[in-house]
Amino acid sequence: MNLLDGKLVSAKIKEDIKKEAAAFTAQSGRKPHLVAILVGNDGGSETYVASKMRNCELVGFESTNIRYDVDVTEDELIAKIEEINQDPNIDGLIVQLPLPKHIDPEKITETIDHRKDVDGFHPINLGRMQRNLPCFIPATPYGIMLMLEHYGIDTAGKKAVVVGRSNIVGSPMSILLARNSNPGNCTVTLTHSRTANLKEEVLAADIIVAAIGRKHFVTADMVKEGAVVIDVGINREESTETKSGFKLYGDVDFEEVSKKSSWITPVPGGVGLMTIVGLLKNTLEAAKGTVYPK
Ligand code: GUN
Repeated sequence: MNLLDGKLVSAKIKEDIKKEAAAFTAQSGRKPHLVAILVGNDGGSETYVASKMRNCELVGFESTNIRYDVDVTEDELIAKIEEINQDPNIDGLIVQLPLPKHIDPEKITETIDHRKDVDGFHPINLGRMQRNLPCFIPATPYGIMLMLEHYGIDTAGKKAVVVGRSNIVGSPMSILLARNSNPGNCTVTLTHSRTANLKEEVLAADIIVAAIGRKHFVTADMVKEGAVVIDVGINREESTETKSGFKLYGDVDFEEVSKKSSWITPVPGGVGLMTIVGLLKNTLEAAKGTVYPK
């Protein structure tokens, strides 16, 4: 078993981002700037947004966290997004999901100017990604591709099975792995709650991406000897063992699966850290205008 070490890879890439951000700031007289909107006080979302903001500071970006009470109206949120769309000093904008039930996430996503959509959720970015055109790639799949690239994992011609079809991870991940690029060129199966014989599908995989949001869903009996296993799960459970009062569990039973896998990501210390890197890279590209020229 070899570890796909998110701590190591993210630290290395963040060093590169920091240098590029310094060069951008020296040339433009301002820092790359990310705005994150957080609605309500979901514990997980609070933690993720705080981490995004902290990492922006670490690499020399400006970051702004705009918070709303859980009862903010959709119109209020849309007005704020439209204001940010017009602000030339803001490069990237994310609205943390999930949103309260009375707010339509599709409407919010489509209101964000696709040139500032560093989450890569806007249909223009998703369409461009599918066509292999310059775009913002959703942060988690982007981070996973960077991880595969860093370790030189051979993906061409391999059978990849993605477990979970979310808009944020599973669905874009399946597109990226199938694209004619490196990493890429996989034969991809996208599995979900209605998949028949899920165990057999996963057992056939050379590369498994577990993004279903259920603690230890992927067990050793579902994994082929030598498979590459990417665990996207961040399942939080209350715990008296940790300072934060929470313990994180992946979607993969690491203890048992790591005995069979050739490569595997730990939780924590794997994909979560790479998601941040994906977001930072998108924000830098938004500032520089490399994806959408300014
Ligand atoms: N909620 C869970 N993951 C994400 C993400 O990558 N971006 C946003 N905006 N919300 C999320």
